Amino acid sequence: MSSSPTPAPMWSPASPQARQVDCFDFVIFGGTGDLSMRKLLPSLFQRDVAGQIPAGARIIGVSRSPLDAAAFRAMADEQARPHLHDTPDPAAWATFLTRLDHVRVDALSEDGWPALAALLTPAPDRIRAYYLATAPGLFGIICQRLQQAGLVTPQARVVLEKPLGHDLASARAINAAVGAVFAEHQIFRIDHYLGKETVQNLLALRFANSLFEPLWNARYIDHVQISVAETVGVEKRGEFYDQTGALRDMVQNHLLQLLCLVAMEPPSHMTQDAVRDEKLKILRALRPMTAADLAQSTVRGQYRPGAIAGQAVDGYVEDLGRPASETETFVALKAEVCNWRWAGVPFYLRTGKRLARRTSEIIIQFRPPPHNIFPADSGPVQPNRLVVRLQPDEGITLHLMGKDPGPGGLRLRPAPLNLSFAETYGTHYPDAYERLLLDVVRGNSTLFMRRDEVEAAWQWAEPILSGWAGTHQPVRPYAAGTWGPSAAVALIERDGRTWQDDDGL
Ligand code: BG6
Repeated sequence: MSSSPTPAPMWSPASPQARQVDCFDFVIFGGTGDLSMRKLLPSLFQRDVAGQIPAGARIIGVSRSPLDAAAFRAMADEQARPHLHDTPDPAAWATFLTRLDHVRVDALSEDGWPALAALLTPAPDRIRAYYLATAPGLFGIICQRLQQAGLVTPQARVVLEKPLGHDLASARAINAAVGAVFAEHQIFRIDHYLGKETVQNLLALRFANSLFEPLWNARYIDHVQISVAETVGVEKRGEFYDQTGALRDMVQNHLLQLLCLVAMEPPSHMTQDAVRDEKLKILRALRPMTAADLAQSTVRGQYRPGAIAGQAVDGYVEDLGRPASETETFVALKAEVCNWRWAGVPFYLRTGKRLARRTSEIIIQFRPPPHNIFPADSGPVQPNRLVVRLQPDEGITLHLMGKDPGPGGLRLRPAPLNLSFAETYGTHYPDAYERLLLDVVRGNSTLFMRRDEVEAAWQWAEPILSGWAGTHQPVRPYAAGTWGPSAAVALIERDGRTWQDDDGL
């Protein structure tokens, strides 16, 4: 690790790693929706510019809107283009738009399916990705109708956006309905956190270096913190969010997936089932939360009016436009992985909206050296800490102790070793969806969740939700722009530890 940048980026979108994929039709159900415009179309465009999308590949928006291809392209031009991270080359953008088409289909009736079939059937052997960016309640019925229309070919695959249900029973029902039409290897359950560069870098850090593995256990690690803090509120998603809450929206999927990648055993290869088998073992090793644990080990909160970056912002219920709500916009909890490697090492998880700063990071806090040889006036020995920053400023910092330079005694001083990915590998960071969408086309589901993983995650999360409801554990208020309710601080400080809110503290 070094803090000095290498002169030329070692990776760029046009580098040889960016190989073209086979020709495909990408069919987006919910094609005119927010996810399609904000993430899916911009990500496909970036991969197009990188030369990965072959001529003839098509992107077909499906929705109930009566749009023809020209109107859908105009919509993408207006609504997707602003979400590109750079102003696009006009010729490249124009070429991308020619790939777009739209079919009006009503998932709940016969309407439109023949038109979709007519568009797709001339190329029956082509890869088809059906991306279901719709309410999860429609996943089963869309799959059934695809089958009835003869559109489920061996080369077809289906992508399911989260949330996959709202509890274990509904997740099982969705998995069963989709599984009745598509084989498991054709089903891609997306968790976009697994597509983030730094998350994949965690795999590289752990399994492409021999340095950390001997230390990666309860003997040397004191605890792990995983924080995903957002400054945004619920924005325009109030209705969805109010029925969901932070535990279902973030913890059951994104934070648990991060925990799995930190805690899992080394898989024997980087193949889909080898990686997912190891993650599943961790989900199954999570200590179940009993009703008695909830008060000690979980905190839920909801933002009140406050200020973010000096700007006054409303509270959650004002954002919702309702007088009251019991939905949590913040969760902090202590999880435990009951196996030999991790026995006794707490994993503190924390996520929330309208927090002080947008930051997502994983902190591996090592234990202090077993014996301090330095005199008291050398200063304290701070235990080593490895910080994996997911966003912003993706990178890794290893906090070591060094000697303060100069004569006059030996004073100890913290010395961070910082690896900034932008400096080392170049500035363009692909969005998580860019990687994942092409993995769907490639048929590589390593970074997607398998059915048993999703169900194991619900199995652990559900007693927390029902426990909160059953014990009437209060939703604690916190002012927007802070780090959440004071009870979240108490949760970790009871154990003699502190949230690391500021890298470098
Ligand atoms: C989504 C959640 O899955 O992840 C959102 O539904 C959240 O509520 C988002 O804002 C966070 O993603 P990112 O990539 O911005 O950290």
